[in-house]
Amino acid sequence: MFQLRRLEYDDVEWIFDACQDEAIQRWTLIPRPYSLEDAEWFVENEPEYVTMVIEDSESSMPLGLVSIHDIDEITREAPMGYWIAPWGRGMKAASAAVKLLIATITPDENIQSVVAYIAEENTVSRRTIERAGFVEVEREWGMAREFMNEVMALKYRKTL
Ligand SMILES: CC(C)(COP(=O)(O)OP(=O)(O)OC[C@H]1O[C@@H](n2cnc3c(N)ncnc32)[C@H](O)[C@@H]1OP(=O)(O)O)[C@@H](O)C(=O)NCCC(=O)NCCS
Repeated sequence: MFQLRRLEYDDVEWIFDACQDEAIQRWTLIPRPYSLEDAEWFVENEPEYVTMVIEDSESSMPLGLVSIHDIDEITREAPMGYWIAPWGRGMKAASAAVKLLIATITPDENIQSVVAYIAEENTVSRRTIERAGFVEVEREWGMAREFMNEVMALKYRKTL
């Protein structure tokens, strides 16, 4: 139903369109306002450990992005993030994509666990990550942002 693929230059336009969305601007760290140049920079530089496009398997329509931001060399924790464009929501694409990305990177001896920091108020995303098999492990102030302001984060973990 869903599949992942690497970023391509043609992704700039739909990423720009998707990132005009209020919920994505509210709960992720994308620049605000989000310009076409921001999308071009992201696709050209791929600034994260791995970023994959989530697409519908049948139509190949791009629905969102799922990423592993980086890896903490000491704890071997890998924080991840995701968003789904407004036109792809409500189909459980995000939780499927999280599972697919983990399956794609496993085994990776640099990573012991994958974690997600989610704003306490972002109940939709909390349900998403729980559906992907993560468990809440702690609360940390400031590890999530709402419109760029630091808020209480719940840390979720899945051990590989
Ligand atoms: C969080 C997010 C990734 C969930 O993606 P998703 O694949 O659409 O998730 P689901 O299909 O499980 O839908 C989750 C909820 O969205 C709501 N929803 C359903 N259809 C929707 C639609 N067309 N538009 C908006 N929300 C919808 C429902 O409340 C649904 O919950 P339920 O099915 O458990 O009742 C997505 O909402 C998103 O990108 N949000 C903004 C960015 C964000 O919060 N990223 C995560 C940061 S930690």
